[in-house]
Amino acid sequence: MTQVPVSDSTTAANAAINQDPGPELMLECRHLGKIYSQGPEEVMVLEDVNLQVYAGERIAIVGSSGSGKTTLLNLLGGLDLPTTGDVLVAGMNLASLNETQRGQMRNRYLGFVYQFHHLLGEFTALENVCMPLLIAGLDVRRAAQRGENILTRVGLGHRLEHKPSELSGGERQRVAIARALVTEPRCVLLDEPTGNLDRHTAREIHLLMAELNTLLATSFIVVTHDEEFARSLDRVLLLRNGRLEPQGAMDGDADGC
Ligand SMILES: Nc1ncnc2c1ncn2[C@@H]1O[C@H](COP(=O)(O)OP(=O)(O)OP(=O)(O)O)[C@@H](O)[C@H]1O
Ligand SMILES: [Mg+2]
Repeated sequence: MTQVPVSDSTTAANAAINQDPGPELMLECRHLGKIYSQGPEEVMVLEDVNLQVYAGERIAIVGSSGSGKTTLLNLLGGLDLPTTGDVLVAGMNLASLNETQRGQMRNRYLGFVYQFHHLLGEFTALENVCMPLLIAGLDVRRAAQRGENILTRVGLGHRLEHKPSELSGGERQRVAIARALVTEPRCVLLDEPTGNLDRHTAREIHLLMAELNTLLATSFIVVTHDEEFARSLDRVLLLRNGRLEPQGAMDGDADGC
């Protein structure tokens, strides 16, 4: 990874990134708002979103298409910046970090499974999965071992050397899931992770998530249209009209979810 010099004013933030937060509030957002500018028009997608996710919590986010689920995950992971409000990861306000520090924060604490997998096309499945470990400073041999293990866990032990273009849609999605989990992050954000997978494979992924949750107290925030899976998690939250509200039992409010 390219080393970017960090100014003196960022030393405190760097020190905070490297502190272990302990068993606590893993991720939090306060009064989060997002307005996209579309030419002269402004589109308010999120108005006032508040969420607290504790270590080991598993949360489902549901909502109709276009309600802002992907927008919210991108803000929670520091991939995009909110128009208003704050996001705190392990107690650190993302707004207080520069881009390099936000990258370090993501690498250290978070895993992502994007709605459209975003694998690197010129690299093999194994290389894609090893990437976050190499960025974190692990040596190539150990990274390859861990990468192979997790790819085997998602049923792709026989596809290590395939490039994304040589994989099926569901296989690509599983590589993306393996890449998000390989660093054993404290909190994983998943955007419809099993939407392309058959029932059996989806179940295997859910079991893997459950295992990480039990073993490592990994928190999961999952955008999903799978009602049965959503109900199996600790909380189901509905994103509607720019706000998140609890949904104890899914009742069809999510317009087609
Ligand atoms: N970069 C952007 N500029 C302008 N509008 C955007 C931008 N990104 C998203 N939007 C709009 O914001 C709204 C929310 O988009 P988002 O992708 O967060 O929805 P979603 O809930 O994830 O939908 P889906 O279930 O279809 O994936 C949509 O109406 C979309 O058109
Ligand atoms: Mg989306």
